[in-house]
Amino acid sequence: MPIAKIYIILIVLFFYMDELIKKLLKTRDVCKRRSILEKEGIDKDEIEEILNLVHLQIKGKLKFPRANLMKFSREGLAQASSKYLAEYRTWKIRNKLDEVPNCLDVCCGIGGDSIAMATRWKVVAVEKDKDTIDMAKHNMRVYNLEKNIDFVQGDINKLIEDRNFLDKVRNVNCIFFDPARRAKEGRTVKVEEYAPPLSFVEKLQAISPNICVKISPGTDLYRIKYDCDIEVVSYKGEVKEVMLWFGNFKEKPESNQILASKLPEKITLIKDKSKLNVLQSEPKKYLYEPDPAFIKAHLIDDLAKEFGLNLIDTKIAYLTGNEKIETPLLNRYSVKRVLNPAFEKINSSLSELNIGRLDFKARGVKVDLHNIHRKIRGKGRNEGLVIFTKVNRENQAIICMYDR
Ligand SMILES: C[S@@+](CC[C@H](N)C(=O)[O-])C[C@H]1O[C@@H](n2cnc3c(N)ncnc32)[C@H](O)[C@@H]1O
Repeated sequence: MPIAKIYIILIVLFFYMDELIKKLLKTRDVCKRRSILEKEGIDKDEIEEILNLVHLQIKGKLKFPRANLMKFSREGLAQASSKYLAEYRTWKIRNKLDEVPNCLDVCCGIGGDSIAMATRWKVVAVEKDKDTIDMAKHNMRVYNLEKNIDFVQGDINKLIEDRNFLDKVRNVNCIFFDPARRAKEGRTVKVEEYAPPLSFVEKLQAISPNICVKISPGTDLYRIKYDCDIEVVSYKGEVKEVMLWFGNFKEKPESNQILASKLPEKITLIKDKSKLNVLQSEPKKYLYEPDPAFIKAHLIDDLAKEFGLNLIDTKIAYLTGNEKIETPLLNRYSVKRVLNPAFEKINSSLSELNIGRLDFKARGVKVDLHNIHRKIRGKGRNEGLVIFTKVNRENQAIICMYDR
């Protein structure tokens, strides 16, 4: 076949694939994506490859604006820090240390954190898996940062005793440690099952005391018995990370603090460890639902104190008050009725309030939220919310309207 003809075929094929991928990226349902490919007559193995590529592009875009140019594995991407979280971390590090000339990224994965660090500083990045570190190298080139980073492929458990490595990290004054949160049975929230385990931090302290460790959001914070601050971070209303801050990253050298932060607003509160004596009351004009980072970090009393609110129950993370408070830390609902949670009563109240479109929430009580709409229905044009929860230890249903 003449070369010109081969070129034309390749160009046509390129545009065809490009259009197909664009179409798949716009299709939310995975089954629909598959049937589009089947209709195009693409063979089975290729379908799996294309579906994987599209999955990585869609998920990657949620974490990295340049995802379309980056390389990921499913696992590498799932465990990678998003650009927004990684940048928050480097912003904090820069505020805590006067100068960050050199940092060490232990377990760099596909490079989510290395990118944010190498944008500002010189980085040594360690990763044991060959394919993963190759992806990290590629991703670093996507951001034109290869000059700022020195990759070391190897097992950190061994490198920590290797003279050449220790020489390389001699000037490091900041370490970020993001161990793999995978155990034999799958994901783990137990910090000593991480690879390497959290206790490895004690070895890293010989390189620098200033360490930030990323741990799973599912971790029981009260099991962390290290000399460090604990920070829970949410992004756009979802808890994304828990970080442990050691050395000069701590708020106060002599004590350990618990912090909750909300991104992208960068609002942080530090838990007040004294007894705050927050009053309890029936739901008032407004019900307030704290951002999940503040719930996870047990900062409900702190929020109540900060905004002059009451608890509706000592064990429930809802606050109440008569004042209209505008803050990204609290979702606000307008309270319409507080009832015993009997379905008929709720239904007639909903109709009285002209509420036809409904959402449901449950906190501190067991309710089958998937099927509750079969039993609870109102009539009307208004939009509302039924919250099943405890008020002063009694099960109650609180009918609210959105107060946007
Ligand atoms: C949670 S991921 C890191 C994610 C990374 N911070 C990012 O944003 O892309 C953990 C990584 O640690 C690596 N790892 C696990 N054990 C290691 C070890 N002993 N030495 C070096 N790397 C290790 C895994 O291969 C995995 O890529």
